[in-house]
Amino acid sequence: MALDILIGVQWGDEGKGRFVDLLSQQMDYVARFAGGDNAGHTIHIGERVFKLHLLPSGMIDPRPISVLGAGMVINPVVLLKEMEFLRESGIPVNPSRLLISHRAHLVTPGHRLLDQLNEARRGAQKIGTTGRGIGPAYVDKVNRSGILFNDLLIPDRLIDKLTMHMEEVNQRVRDVVGFETIPVDQVIDDYTAMAEILRPYIADVGEVLRQALSRGKRILAEGAQGALLDIDHGGYPFVTSSSCLAPNALLSLGVGMPKDVRVIGVFKAFQTRVGEGDFPTEVFDETTAILRGDGSKPWDEFGTTTGRPRRVGWLDGVLLRQMAALNGVSVLGLTKLDVLSGLPVVKMCTAYGGQKVLDPLLVQGQVEPTYQDFPGWEGDLQSVRKWLDLPSNARHYVEAIEAFMDIPIRWVSVGPERQQVIYRDEDDR
Ligand code: GDP
Ligand code: IMO
Ligand code: MG
Repeated sequence: MALDILIGVQWGDEGKGRFVDLLSQQMDYVARFAGGDNAGHTIHIGERVFKLHLLPSGMIDPRPISVLGAGMVINPVVLLKEMEFLRESGIPVNPSRLLISHRAHLVTPGHRLLDQLNEARRGAQKIGTTGRGIGPAYVDKVNRSGILFNDLLIPDRLIDKLTMHMEEVNQRVRDVVGFETIPVDQVIDDYTAMAEILRPYIADVGEVLRQALSRGKRILAEGAQGALLDIDHGGYPFVTSSSCLAPNALLSLGVGMPKDVRVIGVFKAFQTRVGEGDFPTEVFDETTAILRGDGSKPWDEFGTTTGRPRRVGWLDGVLLRQMAALNGVSVLGLTKLDVLSGLPVVKMCTAYGGQKVLDPLLVQGQVEPTYQDFPGWEGDLQSVRKWLDLPSNARHYVEAIEAFMDIPIRWVSVGPERQQVIYRDEDDR
């Protein structure tokens, strides 16, 4: 397929980074299309662990060119740190391997401050954001006062826009107890210096990607967050501020409407969420500790970006179906099947009981999940590479999800490592 769009179909942290790394080896370009450093994508390669917040997970592979799309909001401080981290790990980072859209927006220290201020003001109604300034940066974008990467190329304009922005931020925080203003000159100095470093990476990536498609190159669009966190179709207001859905890849990357598009939906074998908001299948019994882990294993459910323990629960088939439909998912990739080993019973929510509602994501606490029970299985699945080598009950669980979704599950991931995956279709190798 010329354009593959990979998205998470739960509340984020489905293992997108792990899948992008797997697929990157077949790609010419890997392009991140949404969000900012609120994302945290973890990739394990042997002893090495990469936690990326902004750079596409395809950057680890030497082959594809990495792209950051127009729809992103990018904190240049975090970006430069990440670029340095990769270089120190022996991965080349230069303008022939990394392109940043001139239309992407900048996240500033002012946006971070406002994010924290907004959360403090919400009190008990807080969203539980990552505090990375994502909401305020998208607010400025929609308000037409955002600062573009293109502005980094025009020093006078950058200084004017930063001054106006930071003065506004400082005015808002000036009299709020517990918050301090940020010296505007310092921000201008920092951003002017970073502009010089980033200048060679800034490009019209839409043009580059359209040309690549016309030459038959393969592009993987990498989503961030998860469909249930989508600003338009998620559980508003407990969402992020960007569009996390597959169709936004076309808008963010500026690739028009390519004919050959495949949407890969990634989900984990159970459900997790960081931050506030509804979670109908959340569990609070002895299963919680098994699904979350205690933090001793690298894949235990603690946020990659904030370290917060993730809330955990059973797979929610109702939401999964809804999100697969919204995204136009063509094929599915399942992660973390290995984590369910040892549970006597595995559950999947197949319906919501109670009164019928127009939109279950907007009713806040009023849906009652109905579960289908599956017999569990024993044994460590992390070394399994062949479908038929999985315990039969594990296969039944995967097949039941597949039948419920009516979408093929083409990959079953059984561990965080690149090779810990079962290909169900030999064409995917
Ligand atoms: P992303 O945000 O969707 O990229 O996901 P994260 O990286 O935030 O969280 C997924 C976590 O699960 C990471 O620590 C991965 O290394 C890990 N992981 C991914 N797939 C598997 C799997 O099949 N089994 C196990 N045990 N861990 C996995
Ligand atoms: P990846 O790409 C999980 C959640 C936050 C919070 C809400 C709003 O790693 O899957 P924000 O800082 O975006 O304004 O916070 O969205 N959130 C994520 N949860 N994975 C993510 O990204 C997330 N990005 C944002 O926890 O509930
Ligand atoms: Mg994550």
